[in-house]
Amino acid sequence: MRYYPVFLDLEAKIVIIVGGGAEAAQKLRLMAKTPARIVVITPFAERELSTEIDAAGACLVSREFDADDLHGASLVFACGLDVADETAVHAAATQRNIPVNVVDRQDKSSFLTPSIVDRGALTIAIGTEGAAPVLGQGIKAHLEAMLPPSIGSLVEKAAGLRPRVSRALEKGSSRRNFWRSLFFGDIRGSFERDAGAGFELAVDDALSGGERAVTGSVSLVGAGPGDADLLTLKAQRRLQDADVIVYDRLVGPGILEYARRDAERIDVGKTPGKLSVSQTRINQILVHHAGAGRKVVRLKGGDPYVFGRGGEEQAALVAAGIPVEVVPGITAAVACAASIRLPLTWRGENRSFTMITGTAGDGAADHDWTALAKPGAAFSIYMGVRQAGHIQRRLVAAGIANDTPVVVVENGTRANQKTAVGSIATLTRTLALGGISGPAIIYVGLDPARSDLLNARIEVQATALERVAS
Ligand SMILES: C[S@@+](CC[C@H](N)C(=O)[O-])C[C@H]1O[C@@H](n2cnc3c(N)ncnc32)[C@H](O)[C@@H]1O
Repeated sequence: MRYYPVFLDLEAKIVIIVGGGAEAAQKLRLMAKTPARIVVITPFAERELSTEIDAAGACLVSREFDADDLHGASLVFACGLDVADETAVHAAATQRNIPVNVVDRQDKSSFLTPSIVDRGALTIAIGTEGAAPVLGQGIKAHLEAMLPPSIGSLVEKAAGLRPRVSRALEKGSSRRNFWRSLFFGDIRGSFERDAGAGFELAVDDALSGGERAVTGSVSLVGAGPGDADLLTLKAQRRLQDADVIVYDRLVGPGILEYARRDAERIDVGKTPGKLSVSQTRINQILVHHAGAGRKVVRLKGGDPYVFGRGGEEQAALVAAGIPVEVVPGITAAVACAASIRLPLTWRGENRSFTMITGTAGDGAADHDWTALAKPGAAFSIYMGVRQAGHIQRRLVAAGIANDTPVVVVENGTRANQKTAVGSIATLTRTLALGGISGPAIIYVGLDPARSDLLNARIEVQATALERVAS
């Protein structure tokens, strides 16, 4: 280890940046996160740098660098200078024993700038001694994915709690267990759900010896449309932390892989038209497990609040006094459109985009068909395949143009994704020829020529026709 990592206190210290271009702007952005007094020295500041100087409240000295500028400085950066100027800054800093970094010149730098994961009070610096900055940046990206932005605030809370914890808990295992729970366990879970009263309560409980009953919680987590890469980072974290996962039929394969191996998995998948676990029973399962102190993830396809009955589950949990949070997911209408590059809005053509359900209870859902049939209306139909005949008749009766385009995406973002294109006049035939039985999104009023579907149209329909014919 040639370079020894340290964290410098820059409170009220002077940092000098010599240079007027993009590299200087980059260093200024970094230094602006510290409380240092920043002085930029350059005869000409490019626009990006001027903006950063204003934003950071830094001081600009508009002239060439002079060695005496370093008087009282704690750090010096030389950014994007010619060799003579770099040498002058390096010599002046070295003479005065001031740490200096000359961008891209390790031989003229007494310190290197690391890749930094900045989570407020939690700062992680990654260095490769200048040998592999891309590796450093890759590791930084992994760490950033692991550490939620809120972790910095948790560290600040921990700093404030130190005297109280020392008073309340003996040094040794009980104190250590408290900190473990705060950073990795239940107290952290409470903080992420509710950094205010919920967190305080969890801390009080732990410091008073945990006399109160352990409380579980439920996270209503959106799993997205199926592709595991579309899961949010927060959803991944909740899955990793969960004791129990109650999941739906539409949760994509591979997503449960994020769960701990010892987590209990409960399948409550509802298949349309088949006997399934009732909503009341699902609510009971959630209340039961969380009531027993477990961390429960209720994992739902797409987004919990979009045709997902997330609201009902939330109400049941609130009524039972169970802490509940919601982690949004990418809803099917948004994800399926992206998977075929079909824009949902188009300037000057549709100013709204509606999501409707084709099914209500066990039958067809009713809607304001006249509004949906208007020229320019664009909408997506969830759970519409079994009700397609009804939807087609209603829209035609309401006066929709027969040639209004229809695009269908089945199993969007999954390996078995299928698409079909037709019009309102051919809706049921398009589904039959495409062999589409759901889960599918039916888009009405969006122009398929703007997607990448024109080839798929021929492929899907020709294949289906052959199948029908054979
Ligand atoms: C009970 S709703 C759940 C919707 C979900 N909460 C969401 O936000 O996407 C089920 C319907 O969502 C649609 N759906 C869900 N995942 C889909 C996918 N991967 N491809 C196409 N449609 C999907 C289908 O219309 C399916 O019948």
